[in-house]
Amino acid sequence: QTKIIIDCDTGIDDALAILYALRAPNVHIEGITTVFGNTPVEQAADNTLRLLALANPGYDIPVALGATRALVREPGTFAPHVHGENGIGNAELAPSPQKPIDESAADFIVRKANELPGEIVLVTLGRLTNLAHALDQDPELTRKLKKVVVMGGNVLGPGNITPVAEANIWGDPEAADQVFTSGLPVTMVGLDVTLKTRITEEHLNYLNRFGREENKPLIAFMEQSLRYYFNFYREVNYYLGSAPMHDPLAMMVALQPDMVTYRRMKVRVECQSPLTLGMVVADLRPQPTVGSEIEVAIDVDPERAVGAFLSVFM
Ligand code: BDR
Ligand code: CA
Repeated sequence: QTKIIIDCDTGIDDALAILYALRAPNVHIEGITTVFGNTPVEQAADNTLRLLALANPGYDIPVALGATRALVREPGTFAPHVHGENGIGNAELAPSPQKPIDESAADFIVRKANELPGEIVLVTLGRLTNLAHALDQDPELTRKLKKVVVMGGNVLGPGNITPVAEANIWGDPEAADQVFTSGLPVTMVGLDVTLKTRITEEHLNYLNRFGREENKPLIAFMEQSLRYYFNFYREVNYYLGSAPMHDPLAMMVALQPDMVTYRRMKVRVECQSPLTLGMVVADLRPQPTVGSEIEVAIDVDPERAVGAFLSVFM
């Protein structure tokens, strides 16, 4: 059984990743921590609690609130044009009776890593601010967390928020640089692989036909929220009728590491230049000297990944 903590900014694809983790076999979600990003942190927590209520995991999953802003940068704006006013494509979910716990995201991550040293896989689906705060509190986290799987960045292909930067890294580049150079065992699942893995309207039709009865409410939610995502991508004229599965792919990699292929690379995150802010600079020279070594996902079989995603709901 893989014990995970999910750190996320519950938007549409974060929600899909959480639902995947809830239905995948041999996973125990120790807790979910939230961060500002697609939406304000409180909205991310509220969306998460509503999703948990909808999916009914059958065990208690604490939800903790984290950072409201980046480590050093001014508070930015959120992404209602991509993820809807409520962060989940304006899908309406019933409120949950559960409240966020009375412990911050960073405190929760530190406490759990100390209670279960070497056992926890932390899956980050948003800015790395909470993890940076946790590292400040307990630098030994570098050996207490089993692994950190990061959805973020890009090294071989283009960015999505600027020509060279991906949203989660760009949104708090100092936090990302701190995490990548901390010595934590980091696996980066970035746009190089997530852009290849797309969910389409046909996939949703398939889920509607073959989804297990108990998963029908989840599938109805996916349809509602993904409709918003598809429309966004249609408007910007990208990936017509489909949407990249950024966060779900990172979750799948955390639970099934052979879902992608990797290359070890030394990386740093650019924190100065306005033009290239948030760029993950990989030293791909034969004798790299710049940055710290992490594992970077470089290729994926999209059909296999999408098939694995759909299969847990059927
Ligand atoms: C990342 O940015 C957010 O909008 C998504 O939820 C994903 O985590 C993709 O760049
Ligand atoms: Ca996210």
